Order: sequence, then structure tokens, then C-alpha cells
Amino acid sequence: MKETELRQLLNDLTLDEKIGQLVQLPGYFQNAGAVTGPAADMGLTEEDLRLAGSYLSIIGAEKIRKLQTEFMARHPHHIPLLFMADIINGYRTVFPIPLAQGCTFDPELVKQGAAIAAREAAAAGIHVTFSPMADLVWDARWGRVMESTGEDPYLNAQMAAAMVRGYQGDSLEEKGRIAACLKHFAGYGAAEGGRDYNTAELSVRTLREDHLPAYQAAVDAGCEVVMASFNTLDRIPSAANEWLLKEVLRKEMGFKGMVISDWNALEELLAHGIAADQKEAAFIALRAGVDMDMTSPIYIRNLKKLVEEGKVPEQWINESAWRVLRLKNRLGLFERPFRDADEGEEKAVLLSDGHRQAARECAEKSFVLLKNEDQMLPIRGDEAAFIGPYVDHPYLNGAWSIFADDQDTVTVRAALARHPRTRNVPTAPGCPISDPDQPVLGFQQPVAPDSCDPEEALKEAVDLAKKADKVVLCLGEHRECTGEAASRGDITLPKCQLRLLDEIARANKNIAVVLFGGRPLDIRPLKEKAKAILAAWLPGSEGGNAVVRTLLGESDPSGRLSMCFPWCVGQLPVHYNHLNTGRPFRGDYHAARFGSKYQDIPNEPLYPFGFGLSYTGFAYSSVKLSADSMTKKQRITASVTVTNTGSREGTETVQLYLHDLAASVARPVRQLKGFRKVKLEPGESREVAFVISEDMLRLYDLSMRFVSEPGEFEVFIGPDSATDNRARFTLLDEAR
Ligand code: GLC
Repeated sequence: MKETELRQLLNDLTLDEKIGQLVQLPGYFQNAGAVTGPAADMGLTEEDLRLAGSYLSIIGAEKIRKLQTEFMARHPHHIPLLFMADIINGYRTVFPIPLAQGCTFDPELVKQGAAIAAREAAAAGIHVTFSPMADLVWDARWGRVMESTGEDPYLNAQMAAAMVRGYQGDSLEEKGRIAACLKHFAGYGAAEGGRDYNTAELSVRTLREDHLPAYQAAVDAGCEVVMASFNTLDRIPSAANEWLLKEVLRKEMGFKGMVISDWNALEELLAHGIAADQKEAAFIALRAGVDMDMTSPIYIRNLKKLVEEGKVPEQWINESAWRVLRLKNRLGLFERPFRDADEGEEKAVLLSDGHRQAARECAEKSFVLLKNEDQMLPIRGDEAAFIGPYVDHPYLNGAWSIFADDQDTVTVRAALARHPRTRNVPTAPGCPISDPDQPVLGFQQPVAPDSCDPEEALKEAVDLAKKADKVVLCLGEHRECTGEAASRGDITLPKCQLRLLDEIARANKNIAVVLFGGRPLDIRPLKEKAKAILAAWLPGSEGGNAVVRTLLGESDPSGRLSMCFPWCVGQLPVHYNHLNTGRPFRGDYHAARFGSKYQDIPNEPLYPFGFGLSYTGFAYSSVKLSADSMTKKQRITASVTVTNTGSREGTETVQLYLHDLAASVARPVRQLKGFRKVKLEPGESREVAFVISEDMLRLYDLSMRFVSEPGEFEVFIGPDSATDNRARFTLLDEAR
């Protein structure tokens, strides 16, 4: 529709009809016309349902086509509904969780995965996905770390932009595209104590320096929607934060699309204690710039009264309704209200071989080899026994894979049975996946405990271990231990699994652990007792095949940690890009007693950001700089030569970090500013060069200007964030 016609449509709408566009109803109001139990509970009327702007979590071509048809027939102006859903890491073909996708350090691969998710979801009738989740995460107690691409602003920015481009393509007119909704704006991952929905206490400088870059990248990539987060920033919930949603998001970051609240977040303004009643909540949220109210009765029940009482200018309603209509128009819904919803297309694309293969490749590239002594991996196949609850568990999808079917997941055991080199290997569960006294709290209800008898299972497993040359232990948290509302104060493995590890280690020293789960855990016992550790995260529909291919050496583990594994929960939050403090502590306790440290644990994590091994090895030359100083207009090229020192090909992720030694504000000890994946044959060397430009040196100075400051900088180039391969250069002070 032409913009002039859209403007005319807006002008023709009554106040009720405009307010209706600002309302998203939950999917369980499926029978669009009838006021069912939940709708009645929300005090909604037939009229409310008739005028709504969007539905959440309804999916399926046939259902959506039917609902859209009925709905448009009843709407006075036949305005189509927006159908939105959480397609976080795939729709029916499930990809690794985003935290694992971050470990690929491969934005192009992540973009392809998003494009496949879009193709499947579009065929199923979805218009908008609530992804990318670009929240920075430094605290593994927070269950939603699984949904983020990790602890680094630069990596998250690359990944958020890649996902937006994968979902939206070059144009939403293209077949198989859906609009992206960036979330959760802003700083949701900084929840105090890692406790979901908790307060986020961030300085403006930390918000801008560490949290905003990934959101900015998604906006720059053209995301059509932004979701305001649940949390407070500066004691103001995002859904009520006019500075955040208008000054920062729209004026500074240039976002022109639609802002939606998170689930029922407008009603939660009362619990936050910043609205005395629903009417005040409606006023505050609309004033702040929330265009669409996700599943709460606040807008639908209160905006009309506020306008009639002269407390809300109708212009505010018009502006938000305009952004909703504009989104529908950009999606072409007025001409094509069903867009790509098509049952034939669904059958053709959902879980297609090509999609499965892409999911498997992404999983393989997301695995991080944390330890590999005595050439424990890769295995031949027949010399190993596979033991552990994750050998046969189908729960390899992340907690947000709410539309997928676990029956479509290839388990480790199923993959073993298919592969000629492992089809006869013995397997045993060894123990339940979770402790009987610690029921796993699922999304909807507690997860049924495993049926295996712990004592019998343990005995069977130990007997197997005694007979095998090697043991592959498949361990990890249940997938429902991460995701929304899944924060944990204890990030150790379940006791039953730790007992299994102990007993197996007594029977056989040659243990390789494949670790599943949605967060970095305290895995010191694994490091102590296993010769090899492969972090497989929650690898999705093809997880079993990806694991077996990797263990057999048919795929080389090339993932690098997108989030560090802490020494223990006491270190949290922990991240590599920390400040130096006035008492940096390096090493000996008594030599620097009054350093910034703990008495009982180290400062460094067990495995740092960016870390990962391959089946081969890599050597780095020292860092070479094209010059030892530069003006703001000049550039310096920093390079290393990387050599594959092993006997098989491998892929290394060469990482560039910069450190501003002295500035007007304290600077992180290093920040990722670039990475390059290089595949090298045995013995092959390659020079890897990075161009350093002035924009990479900028910071928010004392006046909050984003500028570079003359002075000394260190350049680090190496295999991970702990590399000491460094050189120095000076940014010249041209004022002198
Ligand atoms: C949830 C989540 C958000 C999700 C939304 C819709 O509460 O916070 O990430 O997109 O509701 O399901």
C-alpha cells in the first residue's frame, strides 16, 4: 500500500480501532472470535478480540490462513493480523542454542541458520520472530545465557547483525523472510545475582560501552522491531523508560521501527512500583514509546479513557498505531495477508535434508574442545563405551525450541547406531539426568524423572567401563535448567552425574566427556578426571550426528568459547574484558596479599573467552606492526603468521584484542576488535593481518563523547583472550 493510502487508513480509524492495533493477544486465544477463559480473565470483550493488532505464538499455515481470513472478515477495515513467535534457533529444524552459535565465530554460518529458520517459519505463517536476543551475558547463573551469543560486545554485534540479515534478507518482499525483533532492550543480561527479571545496575558508560553495541548492530542491520526488556535500568523499567526508548533507541541509535513490550511487562509496572494503577501504567508506557502491548490488558483497558480525559494526546496513539500499520505494510500484509503461509511449502522445507545438514554443520562448528590429553580424541569407534544420561536423551534442543518435536532429534545413541564405525559400541545411561531430589522445573510442568534405577544403572555402567579401552561420558544439565526463569545458584553438575564420573574414573582412566547444556558450568571435576572434554552445548536436531562425527574425527572441533567457563559460581559475574583495578592481582598470594583477589579461588576462569582446541595444533609468530605510531587518520597493520603444527588439517580462529593503557576513564584490560578463521593443512603457515583504525580505539570519555584519546595501546593477537602475544603502538597527539 502506498504511504498516502496508509495514512488515509489511519485517519479513517476510530480511536478504538487505533488502540486495537497496539494490542498483541496471546496465542491461547486461538478461537479469534470467542472470549474464552483466559480472555475473560483479562476482562477482554468480543470487540477487543475483533480489533486486536497481533497474535503471539500461533503457528502453522492452515491455522494462520484460517484465522487471518476470519479475522479480516470481521475487522471493520479488514486490517490483517501480525503473527509473531519465538523462533530463537530454528523452527522445526533446530540449530544449536545461540550461545553455541556464538562459539562458531562464524557470522556467515549464523546468518545461514537464521535464513533457514525464516524459511521454515514463514512457510508456517509467521511474520516476525523475537530474535536476535543480543543481551550481553557475564553471569552463568542466569538461565538465559543460552539465548545470548556471549560475553563479548564485538562478537555479539557481529552475530546480532548476521541473524537480522538472515531473517530479513535484502527485502521482506523476498519469499521465506520474516521480520526480526531485537531483544531485550536494554541490559537484561545484567540481572543482579544472575537472577532472572532482577534489577540491572549499570553505569551509563558500561551500558554504552558493553551492552549497546550489539543492539546498535541489529538496528543498523535493519531490524524491524525492538522489544523493551523487563528489567530496570537506573531504577526505571525499560517499558517505562522514555530516555532509553526515545533518546537512546530512536534519536541516538536511529531506530525507526516498532517497539513492543515483553510479555505482560506493562502490567508489571505496578509490581515495579512505578505505576499506582493500570491507567498510570498505560500512560507511562505509551509516553515512554512502547507501541505494542504484549499480552497485557493495560492498553486495551485504559488508553481510551486516558484520551477521553485529556491525559493522553490522541497523537501518541496515532504515532504508535502508525508504526504498527507501517510494519504490516512493510511486510506486504495488506496485499498478501497470508504472506508465505503455505501447507505445501511447509511439507517441502520443514526438516528438509538440506536444513538438517546445515544444522549439523553449525553444531559441529559450535563444539569447543576444552581438553584433549594423550590424543584421547578422536576415537576409532569400536574401542569406546558410551555412558551417561545424554547418550540416549532426545533433549538436545534449547528450552526455546517450543515448536520443535523431540522425536525429530537425532540422539547420540541413534547416531552411533547409524555409523559403521560405532554401530556396535556398548551404551548405558549410567545414572538419571538429574538428581531425584532436584526435580527439573520444565517450562510448563516439572520434567518427569528418569525411570532408570540409579544403583543398577551405575553397576551396569562400571562393568562396561572396565571392559572398554576408552569411555565417552555424555553428561550435562537438563535443557530445562537454562532458558527463561531458569536461574541457578549452584552451577555444578547433578550429584548423580558426578558420582558416575567418580565411579567410571576408578574403573577406567581413559575418559572423554561430551558436555551438554545451556550454560558454562563449574566443571573442575571433569578437568581433573577426564582426559578430554568436548563442550557440545544444546546442539539441536542433528546433535547426535554432529557429536559422533566429531568424536570420530570426521569433523574437527573448531569452536571457541563465546562465554568463559568460570572456576566456580563464586567468581560470577566474570568476563575477560574487565577493568584492571588499582590493585591488579597476578599470581602469588603472599607476594601481593593486598591485591584484588579471593583467598580461596583464582581470579581467572577455568577456560577463558575465545578458548578452544583442535585435533591439530597451531603456532603463532610474534605480533608484527607496520608502524609503532599512527595519527587518527592513519592505520596500522598488525599481523602474525599462524602455522598448523599437527598432522591433520584444522581451523583456527585468530583473535585481535586491543588495550588502551591510559585514558580519561579506566579501560578494559583488553577488548576483542577482530577475528579471522583460517583453515590450514598440516605444516601450512599463513599470515593473518588486521588493520587497526582510529575508530577501533574510541571510548566514552569524561564528557560521554565517543572519541579516541592519544596514548599507548597494546595489540594482542592469539588463540584466545588470555594470549600474551603482544606489541605496542602510540596514537599520536596531533594537538602538540
Ligand atoms: C518472554 C520472553 C521474551 C519472549 C516473549 C514472547 O517472556 O522474555 O524473550 O520473546 O516472552 O514469548
